[in-house]
Amino acid sequence: MRPGEPSRTAQWVAFARGLAQYEAPAIAQDPLAIELLGSWYAGGLRAAALAPAATRLLMRVGDTVTGGRSRFMAYRTRVLDDVVSEAAAKGIDQLVILGAGLDARAWRLGDSVAGMDVFEVDHPDTQVYKRERLGDRPPDARSVVFVGVDFEHDALDAKLLAAGFDARRPAVVLWEGVVMYLPAEAIDATLRTLCGLLAPGSRLAISYSRTGEGSGAWLRTALGVVVAAAGEVFRHHEEPAAMRARVEKAGFAVLWDEGHPDWAPRYCHRDQPWDVQRIVLAERTGEVGGEGA
Ligand SMILES: C[S@@+](CC[C@H](N)C(=O)[O-])C[C@H]1O[C@@H](n2cnc3c(N)ncnc32)[C@H](O)[C@@H]1O
Repeated sequence: MRPGEPSRTAQWVAFARGLAQYEAPAIAQDPLAIELLGSWYAGGLRAAALAPAATRLLMRVGDTVTGGRSRFMAYRTRVLDDVVSEAAAKGIDQLVILGAGLDARAWRLGDSVAGMDVFEVDHPDTQVYKRERLGDRPPDARSVVFVGVDFEHDALDAKLLAAGFDARRPAVVLWEGVVMYLPAEAIDATLRTLCGLLAPGSRLAISYSRTGEGSGAWLRTALGVVVAAAGEVFRHHEEPAAMRARVEKAGFAVLWDEGHPDWAPRYCHRDQPWDVQRIVLAERTGEVGGEGA
């Protein structure tokens, strides 16, 4: 990230899911994307809201840039929205969003978050921008606290506890679109910290990017160049077996690991054969047997 500037990739992914909501059937909804995004991004979304032809054109541009994978941000957002709803239904009342960017769940998920205390954890520079855009908009959530953290340098547990996180109550933790920008050591340290902090019954969902062997390799390289030009560097890609081992080693029990082949038929039947991004959902069980946990 560029010092003093909000994350560019946070704006890109907000634009991508904001755009996808204007397709029919929509994979995910993010009506706040327009308000959280400035400049031409908001203009593009306004055009898409008014004219299906604009939506199709912008989607086609996205597909050209990403080799047909323009909807993966919308898919992962939808899957994680469902993870939050399921956690709420189980009575979990704390939501921690790691690397929140322009995530608007605390303002758009209605009843799912109405009984939740939300902790938005992100790089402080991105939070400054987001808070300016939000103004004094009231959240749907019971409460929202912004916790400034750099995963590579700060103690996540101390910052969360200082912000009012209750380690005795289970939480649902989302880590969406972030670990690809972190070194493995920072991912492992954060996982160990979370396992030590979270109460049994807590859930952790991580979206991650595969190594992109074969047909996906050129895409990863091309996107990596674009992302690096924006001051954010891809540093971590992983295959499902390795991600599962990483999460289990930290002390979590993996509940499932899914990707596009699972989501496309479930959410909209649109052909999306690529399996570049996946989500692993894990639980903090009562037993902590992982090394280093
Ligand atoms: C691609 S955006 C994803 C934002 C959001 N989770 C979403 O899906 O809309 C990546 C986010 O990771 C955050 N980030 C990247 N490196 C970070 C670090 N070292 N510490 C804290 N946050 C970081 C950025 O500020 C940004 O909000």
